[in-house]
Amino acid sequence: MTDLTDAPGASPIDPAVEAALVASMDARAEALLEFCRIPSVSALPEHAEDMVRAAEWVAERLRRVGATDVAVERTALHPIVYGRIHEAPGAPTALVYCHYDVQPVDPIELWETAPWDPFLRDGRFVGRGVADDKGQLVMHLAALEALRAAGKAPAVNLTFVFEGEEEYGSDSLYAWIEANRDRLGADVAIISDTGYFEGNVPAITVALRGIMYAQIDVELSPVDLHSGMYGGTVDNPANALARIITALKGADGRVRIPGFYDDVVALTAAEREAMAALPFDDEAYRAEIPVPALVGEVGWTTLERKGARPTFDVNGMWSGFQGEGAKTIIPAHAHAKVSTRLVANQDPTKVFAALRDVVAEIAPPGVKVTTTFIHGGEPSLTPTDHPATQAAARALEAVHGVAPIYIREGGSIPVTAAFDHSLGLPVVLLGFAQPSCNAHAPNEWFLLENFELGTRVIVRLWDELAELPR
Ligand code: BES
Ligand code: MN
Ligand code: MN
Repeated sequence: MTDLTDAPGASPIDPAVEAALVASMDARAEALLEFCRIPSVSALPEHAEDMVRAAEWVAERLRRVGATDVAVERTALHPIVYGRIHEAPGAPTALVYCHYDVQPVDPIELWETAPWDPFLRDGRFVGRGVADDKGQLVMHLAALEALRAAGKAPAVNLTFVFEGEEEYGSDSLYAWIEANRDRLGADVAIISDTGYFEGNVPAITVALRGIMYAQIDVELSPVDLHSGMYGGTVDNPANALARIITALKGADGRVRIPGFYDDVVALTAAEREAMAALPFDDEAYRAEIPVPALVGEVGWTTLERKGARPTFDVNGMWSGFQGEGAKTIIPAHAHAKVSTRLVANQDPTKVFAALRDVVAEIAPPGVKVTTTFIHGGEPSLTPTDHPATQAAARALEAVHGVAPIYIREGGSIPVTAAFDHSLGLPVVLLGFAQPSCNAHAPNEWFLLENFELGTRVIVRLWDELAELPR
C-alpha cells in the first residue's frame, strides 16, 4: 500500500493520532472481520438473534471508547444502538449514523468464498457487509479509538445512532426518532453509508433517491387449472400480471403511474451541466456491470437517470410451473414485487396510492388483483454550499489531496429524510465504499486503502465541524 500520509497535496492529521492508527492497523482490520462474522441479515427472521449479537458488539465497542448512555434499544423489530461522547462544551453536536444490518447472501453459490468468513487479502476485505455498511461503522469506532489512544477527545460532541433495519426499510427507526427527539438534539447529521465516485475520486453525496416498495398479487382460483380444459375460458393470472406491469412503464422508460412526475423538482440547466462535466464514461460503466446495452428514460444521460430521475422496476416475479420440462396448467395465481426509486420531492405514500389506484383500474375482471405496500422512504437533497457539507469537503481534501466532487446517488437511505424533516438537521453523506464494491451482491469487497483513508477523514472531520457556525 502507498504511504497514506503523503499523497500530493494532502496535509497530515495530528501526529499522535496518526501514530495510534499505524499501531492499531492489524487490530482495526481484525475488528471489522470479527464484526462481519456476525450474520446480521435484517430481512430474515432466522437471524433475529444475530441482529441482537451485532447490536451488542457495537454497544461494547462504543463503551470501550468512553461513550456514555450506551444502550441497545429494543424496537418492534431490530435494536437501535445509541451512545454519546459529549466532551466538547460549547462545540457543535454531530449525530453519527451507520447501519449494522446487511442484505441476504443469496445466491450463495456465486460467492467465491464463504460470506460469513470474511478475510483481508491483497489489500481487500471480502465478505458480506465489509462495504455496506459495517466497514464504515468500524471506521467511526476506529477513529475514536485512535483519538483516545492519543489521549484526546473529539473536538465536537458526538451522538451515535447505529441502526439495524436500514436494508429493510427502517420502519422502527421513524417511530424511535419521534419518541427520542430530546436525546437527538444536534447541529448536523453525518451518515457514512455512501462512497467514492468511479473508483477513487473522493465524493460527497448530495442527493439520494427515495423508495416505494409494493407487491402486486393476481389470483384466479384456489388451485392450478388444466390449460386444455380451461384455456380460452378463463383469464390467466400470469398473462394478466404481465399486462398490468407493461401498462406501468413505457418502452421509452417513462413511468405511467398517473401523476408520478408531478412533484419532481426539475434539474436546473446549471445542474445538468455540472453532471455532464463529471468524469463518467458510459461505456466503462456498461462494460463493468456487464450488460449488453444501457437503457432508460429517453432524453436523460446515464448519470441523470441513475441519480436524478425516478424509476419503476419489477424486483421479482413468480407464477405457475418453473420446473424442468413442461406442465400444462393455468396458474392459480401470479405475483410481483415492484418498487419505484423516487427523487425530491416525490412522496412514497402518494406514489403508493397512485399505483394502487391505477392497478385497480386496469385490473382485468377475470382475476382478483391486490396491491400491498411493503416499505417507503423519502428522497433527500442537501445543498452543496451548506457549511457542514463544506466542512466534510475540507476533511476529504485534507486527506486525499484533491477536492471532492458532489454527486447524486441512485440508492436510498431512508433515515436521511427523517433526520432532515423530523429533526431539522442538515445531513452530510460522507462515505467510503467504491461504487463497484458488490454491495448486496456476492463477493462484496472493501479496499483497505479506503478503510485507512476514510478513518483519517473522520478524524479530520471532527476538527472541521468544530468550526461550524452555530
Ligand atoms: N448504502 C445503501 C444506499 C446507497 C446505495 C448509497 C448506493 C449510495 C449508493 C443502503 O444500504 C441501501 O442499500 N439502501 C437500500 C434501502 C432500501 C432497502 C429501503 C436500497 O437503496 O436499496
Ligand atoms: Mn448501506
Ligand atoms: Mn445496502
